[in-house]
Amino acid sequence: MSSVTYAEKIPNNVNLVGDRTLQRALEHWQPRFLDWWKSMGPADFQGADVYLRTAISVDADGWAQYGAVKMPDYRWGIFLADPVANRTIGFGDQMGAPVWQQVPGEYRSTLRRLIVTQGDTEPASVEQQRMLGHTCPSLYDLRNLFQINVEEGRHLWAMVYLLHAYFGRDGREEAEELLSRHSGDADKPRILTTFNEPISDWLSLYCFTYFTDRDGKYQLKSLAESAFDPLSRTCRFMLTEEAHHMFVGETGLGRVIRRSLEVMKELNTDDPAKIRAHGAIDLQTIQKYLNFWCSSSLDLFGNEISSNSAANFANGLKGRPDESQYDDHVLREKTFSLRTPQGEESVPMLNALNEVMRESYLKDCEIGLKRWNRQIERAGHSLRLTLPAPSFRRTIGAWAGLPVDPQGKLLDKSTYERMLHEWIPSEGDRAFVHSLMKRVAEPGKMAGWIAPPDRGINNLPVEYEYVKLH
Ligand SMILES: [Fe+2]
Ligand SMILES: [Fe+2]
Repeated sequence: MSSVTYAEKIPNNVNLVGDRTLQRALEHWQPRFLDWWKSMGPADFQGADVYLRTAISVDADGWAQYGAVKMPDYRWGIFLADPVANRTIGFGDQMGAPVWQQVPGEYRSTLRRLIVTQGDTEPASVEQQRMLGHTCPSLYDLRNLFQINVEEGRHLWAMVYLLHAYFGRDGREEAEELLSRHSGDADKPRILTTFNEPISDWLSLYCFTYFTDRDGKYQLKSLAESAFDPLSRTCRFMLTEEAHHMFVGETGLGRVIRRSLEVMKELNTDDPAKIRAHGAIDLQTIQKYLNFWCSSSLDLFGNEISSNSAANFANGLKGRPDESQYDDHVLREKTFSLRTPQGEESVPMLNALNEVMRESYLKDCEIGLKRWNRQIERAGHSLRLTLPAPSFRRTIGAWAGLPVDPQGKLLDKSTYERMLHEWIPSEGDRAFVHSLMKRVAEPGKMAGWIAPPDRGINNLPVEYEYVKLH
């Protein structure tokens, strides 16, 4: 079951040959996907040989095979984690009943919307990042960017498979729409705001992969709990790919920080202006980028109080990430204490699940900060990087539009507006970071604002030529 068929036009482990109609429909979508990739994927690198990993099985160990591939030749396919025998619904009002192999009629439109919303973010991020290759800080980083891009392309395949296989004509139409909306497009933008901002510098890419891909991880984890078994299995395999994206974010930010610490030591200063003049990024600026990306990613979890997420949970469509770690899986009796601008409020737990998810996401975000702060401490500096308060700079929910500082304190509007450029990147900060973005494409060489990684890819040295440009 877990081995992947590569002999076919569309690599898969879902026995696509056994369903001719589905196979034909997906083979019809495939050239459109490739057209999209060529016009909206990484600009100007379609002919480069990239050292990529490709899935060969969905087992936890040894799912990947590495080799030089031109990106348009990447074998995008359909891979589901192996089924769990006798799996039952793990939460909600139908807890304990067998999981569904087909979509129940009454949940059809909700499930379709969940899949489309997830699916829309995958190609969106490829579009957002399409110009970044021009300013890569090293070939190692360039390769990692492209690895992420092809995997986000595969995640689109994963969602399109579900739409085609389980949602009939509307599913096929939605699959077309996933290729016709574009990030930042004035007429047909991507569904979620965060996915319509171009990512034009690598510090933002590392923040995006640290914070926004981690939101993706939490969404996938909650969908992996779903009673709709094909969705669960699809998301379980996507999570194994997603881990690499967050690795790029965490190690990327760690390397930027390490480089600033080196420059601080070399110049014996913690003056941001001197650090910048030396071509590194000061810790204060890094903090601003963390504030910006953390706060915009927090919005992706939605309103604190949500009847939709309550219904999705009660009906078994979407659970909590790592549902099995909780004692109560029905939540009809529980309450949640919610912090609002009016004070603490007790609300039914079922309605507060977006907030529950946001809290566990923030805990996960803390892990990298602890690591980076240890680096800073070891270097003998007292500054500590922090996550902004969840109420900072929110655009949806109870705190939307309120003048709250990164410590969570409610201010008056004019103070907030005056201070904002000290908390998130100002025009000047962005211009400075942009000024550092110059392509470094000699094997083993790193841009001056980032330290080399501890190790290369798949036991190869850091100096390996991970992308061969032609
Ligand atoms: Fe993804
Ligand atoms: Fe990702």
